[in-house]
Amino acid sequence: MTDLSTTYLGLNLKNPLVVSASPFSKSLDKARKMEEAGASAIVMHSLFEEQIIHESLELDHFLTRGTDSSAESMSYFPDSDKYLVGPEKYLNQVTALKKALKVPVIGSLNGVSKGGWTKYAKQIQDAGADALELNLYYIPTDLNLTAHELENAQVELVAEVKSAITIPLAVKLSPFITALPNFARRVVDAGASALVLFNRFYQPDFDLEELKIVPSLDLSTSAEMRLPLRWVSILYGKVSADFALTSGVHTAVDVVKAMMAGAKVTMMASALLQGGDQVIPNMLSVLESWMKEREYSSVKQMQGSLSQKAVKEPTAFERANYMAALNTFRDVS
Ligand SMILES: Cc1cc2nc3c(=O)[nH]c(=O)nc-3n(C[C@H](O)[C@H](O)[C@H](O)COP(=O)(O)O)c2cc1C
Repeated sequence: MTDLSTTYLGLNLKNPLVVSASPFSKSLDKARKMEEAGASAIVMHSLFEEQIIHESLELDHFLTRGTDSSAESMSYFPDSDKYLVGPEKYLNQVTALKKALKVPVIGSLNGVSKGGWTKYAKQIQDAGADALELNLYYIPTDLNLTAHELENAQVELVAEVKSAITIPLAVKLSPFITALPNFARRVVDAGASALVLFNRFYQPDFDLEELKIVPSLDLSTSAEMRLPLRWVSILYGKVSADFALTSGVHTAVDVVKAMMAGAKVTMMASALLQGGDQVIPNMLSVLESWMKEREYSSVKQMQGSLSQKAVKEPTAFERANYMAALNTFRDVS
């Protein structure tokens, strides 16, 4: 018997395939289909700070740092009835998902500043969530904002959210952090039991007809997985947290890689949006065959086996990899 089970945030999961924060959790029917297909847990779409308080001074301070006009910068926000839903509706959805599903439901808060809105962490817990994911998505554009100030604010936010809840907290990080290992450790010291690597940053595009900046969302490909793969490998065993790997997980082989780097779970959105719920049983079946062929009896046995701590050449994750990669290119002159 091949044992696909894993643990994440103190939860026992039947396999490492988790539905990442995405619109699937907005529909009970779609969430049920994911569960029936074999997903081991579901992370909900986020409740955004902006949905909770439109007029928070602290939020305003953060969102408009580096921009010229508060009114203009806020006008770009989507209508709350498109992607965003009100907090009450969100809390009702947590309860409804918990009733409809047997697998764990992880709530998601998405914000940048401390303040009254973080009381929703407790409300998500009270609505029945098994754990909470906090997404720290912020683009610093202010020349006066230092890395230290920004990191301090984010660490304080993590501590504030954690102090409001007793369920486990995961924090979804940006890859654009100057000294990621130190920041990761600070986030864990502030109360995170898991780190979700990474937030995928959607880069805006230019509409040259309208001369406007337009939001754009391209789904990921497996190639994007290398970034979280490297960082899970580096941080595994050094920071005492569980790791969830998200961005670019599309195949069973991607899942094997994530496990070997040291992830406890993989989280998928793009693959499921493209291929539907049937992606999950297909991946589970290939994963099981792959493990059988290579005589792995459990997913746990693979976890961390190719982390930086475990491999013979730890510099393969560092600057040496960059030089080695450049050298793999044949001379074209
Ligand atoms: C349509 C869509 C909606 C998403 N909504 C959220 C969200 O509400 N909160 C969040 O933290 N991440 C959200 N994400 C990001 C995903 O959870 C995931 O981290 C990211 O897409 C990378 O994984 P992937 O390569 O499997 O798509 C969303 C992604 C997509 C494609």
